[in-house]
Amino acid sequence: MAREELKKRIGKLRELINHHRYLYHVLDKQEISDEALDSLKKELFDLEQKYPEFITLDSPTQRVGGAPLKEFKKIRHPERMLSLNDVFSKQDFLDWQERVSKLLTEKEKKDIDFYCELKLDGLAIELIYENGLLKTGSTRGDGIVGEDVTQNLKTIEAVPLRLRDINKVIEELKKENLKKIAENIRNKGLKKVIVRGEVFLTKKEFEKINKIQVKKGLPLYANPRNIAAGSIRQLDPKVTALRQLDSNAYDLLTDFGQKTHEETHKILKALGFKINKNNKYRQNANKVFELHKFWQKNRDSLPYEIDGIVVIINNNNIFKKLGVVGKAPRGAVAFKFSLKQATTKVEDIFIQVGRTGAMTPVARLKPVSISGVTITRATLHNKDEIKRLGVKIGDTVIVGRAGDVIPDIVKVLTELRTGKEKDFKMPKVCPSCGSKLIKSERELFWRCPNSKCFARKRRALYYFVSRGAFDIRGLGPKIIDRLLEEGLIRDAADLFELKEGDVVQLERFAEKSAENLIKAVQNSRKISLPRFIYALGIRNVGQETSQDLAEYFGDMGKLEKANLDELQKIKDIGPVVAESINKWFSDERNRKFLWRLKISINIIKTKKEIKGGKLKGRRFVLTGELKTMSRNRVREIIRNLDGNVSEAVSKNTDFVVVGLNPGSKLKMAEKLGVKTIKEEEFLKLLQ
Ligand code: IVH
Repeated sequence: MAREELKKRIGKLRELINHHRYLYHVLDKQEISDEALDSLKKELFDLEQKYPEFITLDSPTQRVGGAPLKEFKKIRHPERMLSLNDVFSKQDFLDWQERVSKLLTEKEKKDIDFYCELKLDGLAIELIYENGLLKTGSTRGDGIVGEDVTQNLKTIEAVPLRLRDINKVIEELKKENLKKIAENIRNKGLKKVIVRGEVFLTKKEFEKINKIQVKKGLPLYANPRNIAAGSIRQLDPKVTALRQLDSNAYDLLTDFGQKTHEETHKILKALGFKINKNNKYRQNANKVFELHKFWQKNRDSLPYEIDGIVVIINNNNIFKKLGVVGKAPRGAVAFKFSLKQATTKVEDIFIQVGRTGAMTPVARLKPVSISGVTITRATLHNKDEIKRLGVKIGDTVIVGRAGDVIPDIVKVLTELRTGKEKDFKMPKVCPSCGSKLIKSERELFWRCPNSKCFARKRRALYYFVSRGAFDIRGLGPKIIDRLLEEGLIRDAADLFELKEGDVVQLERFAEKSAENLIKAVQNSRKISLPRFIYALGIRNVGQETSQDLAEYFGDMGKLEKANLDELQKIKDIGPVVAESINKWFSDERNRKFLWRLKISINIIKTKKEIKGGKLKGRRFVLTGELKTMSRNRVREIIRNLDGNVSEAVSKNTDFVVVGLNPGSKLKMAEKLGVKTIKEEEFLKLLQ
């Protein structure tokens, strides 16, 4: 981006962030998710780091919180209440460590170690104790002046109303081998103690309160933090008391000679504060990464929300020496978990041609990481969805992973437009084969009517090997594309003719994986009738309809010959579906394709019709991951051949099929003397 454009972008980002901060902090309103706002802040912060000449005093990166509400008494914090800068990746973390190291001596650099805390998703408070008694409790406010919420904080049991008896404090610190600190406390007394921490709400309490909101017909709270904030900033403490709020302490401003942040926590505990038991000392960056990874994976098991871990340079002298930059201390960062939402740019909108010829507009995005996965595209579904979102090429958008899988555009940030954004125009012809697109009245999509269209054929192949169909493991879109490009296959029927030698010649294809791929293709040749019907990719025929058709007709021959009337006798099949089916089977090319397919595959009859299947009476248990097919598939095959699959191993089990990384079932089998077989042996049983 040119300098002028950069400056404009920075200005617009600031305006937008400020707008949402005002909504959030002053009005307790939220219009975009925390993740989306964090993502914008990160972009601004990074740009300002690169171009410090553009930093202004009023930038959101330079201040904390919003203006305090008028209703509360104001309390000036003895020291500014800071915030933390975010890092989102290992690289971000290492960059921070390197930036910080440059400001330290060689010895200090070597001494760097960390204290890690769970980053609770609540609101920050400050508690001031005089002669052991809680005198004032305040919110952060703008970081300099906060709101006096003492009465409300007093309703929280985790907040001590008085510090523990000084002798007990000293005794405990001595036990912890902190003799010097104990001595300091004896000499200095507990005249004034300043503590900071977080007020938060459990997930259970959050759900309970939202249920009550529903009953009362009131709007739902977006997250536990909003309730915690709302409850603390209540003028009537009785309302606060109704909410089961919790609190953890994480910082002590009073100097008792503590040398590390870890010691700070030990003092806090001795004084009677609730500290988080999951906080941990970590010696180096790699150990920090392990902890971060652990909590990213296990955060759901906690009874409260966390959005990352706070990593603080453990040595207090080094932490102090590093000082403050803008709104945050240099010596600590919030190491956030990867986002479920992020902001990025729409670089282009292109058309994807589906198996049935449907044209789906897809946004090509500037790569962005969401929940640890790099996202480069998002589906826009159809023309109406583009209209609803109002998205243009060049727009900055919020993307999210719906149900953690398919990326979706959630919102367009029109405020960031430059005027150079372009509207997307739906093409009139298929981008792959050039056929004129058609659209029937009852459909939302435009379609390519050419069944020979290459793009359609390619999608049909992806579909053919997918889970609900032939379920060929290891044969994903990338490999299919390469096989097509090399002319090794033209359609699905060709797959079964492939030999190891064909695959090995593909660039970067190892012998072992070629062997596995061919095995997987060969093993998929035994298939149930419903799956086979589904795999054909007939328009309007999904898994359910395939099942119905299989049950009604019992074999392919009858289905192929069925006329419209007969098809409509089946429950749930109306004229539209019947017509699709009929049309598919009347097409000469489809009939040829089917004929070629049938030579290679073996359709397994549904169980009802089999008498004395190959595995009759045999009891199987499966453990571990199989190389050539999913466990579901194996279950299906065994059942179709009249065998039995059970969950647990017992004396009556005939075989335990053992895959990779088997579990306790293998041990059980060994203990009971049950026969164990590997995947290869199991496959032989089927032949
Ligand atoms: S330490 C210098 N520890 O995160 C600031 N903060 O983004 C020291 N937070 O304002 C903060 N849990 O409200 C610290 N275990 C924890 C925390 C924590 C949540 C919040 C806190 C702070 C914000 C910074």
